[in-house]
Amino acid sequence: FGDRVLQGKKVVVSAGPTYEDIDPVRFIGNRSSGRMGFAVAEAAAQAGAQVTLVAGPVTLATPHGVAERIDVRSAAQMHAAVTKAAADADIYIGAAAVGDYRPNAVSEHKLKKQSGSDLTLQLAENPDILASLSAQRVHPFLVGFAAETQNVESYARDKLQRKGLDMIAANQVGHGLGFETADNAITLYWPDGSAELPRADKASLAHQLIERIATRYKAVRG
Ligand code: C5P
Repeated sequence: FGDRVLQGKKVVVSAGPTYEDIDPVRFIGNRSSGRMGFAVAEAAAQAGAQVTLVAGPVTLATPHGVAERIDVRSAAQMHAAVTKAAADADIYIGAAAVGDYRPNAVSEHKLKKQSGSDLTLQLAENPDILASLSAQRVHPFLVGFAAETQNVESYARDKLQRKGLDMIAANQVGHGLGFETADNAITLYWPDGSAELPRADKASLAHQLIERIATRYKAVRG
């Protein structure tokens, strides 16, 4: 960035999956690698932002220029860390794939197999981090991600509205794109517009994303 489009702004980025423990050796997780969120954190730092990266369980190195990294495991831990970090942030970018449910209770000991019968796990709903931020009277400019396998635009627009977001970055997962891949393609939506960011590596997409977020942020928040 020649012009450091986020100079002096505090930006919080969440990235990676969450793991919801079942017992000491098992968990419910998802296929998010964290790479898109880490690329976004790096691009925001290069644009001059003071970046806090809240990372789920990933093995990625902290990107160059990121001021603070907070490692978490579960959605509840991510919710707590993001809420604290976002309290004085200008922009929150939720790139994490947050688990929607967690086991009702975490077993203290390893669950034993009961041969010959099915096992039912009771799941409790996790808090929605973005929706809970947008419900606060004063909150940062909010950017969400939507990884969809179908109906990308309608699901993304629905999430933009329902979660009270300023922008949403939607990508189709599958077909060699999205999770566990190097490349991605994104369509950005905001209440009265959209922009196509064609297939590219995650670093270059992250740069374009940060440019667009900075432009929109300035339009909405001055
Ligand atoms: O899972 P979903 O498709 O609803 O995720 C859309 C956006 O909402 C993502 O940016 C994700 O980080 C965020 N999210 C969240 N808290 C959740 C679930 C999703 O902030 N519990």
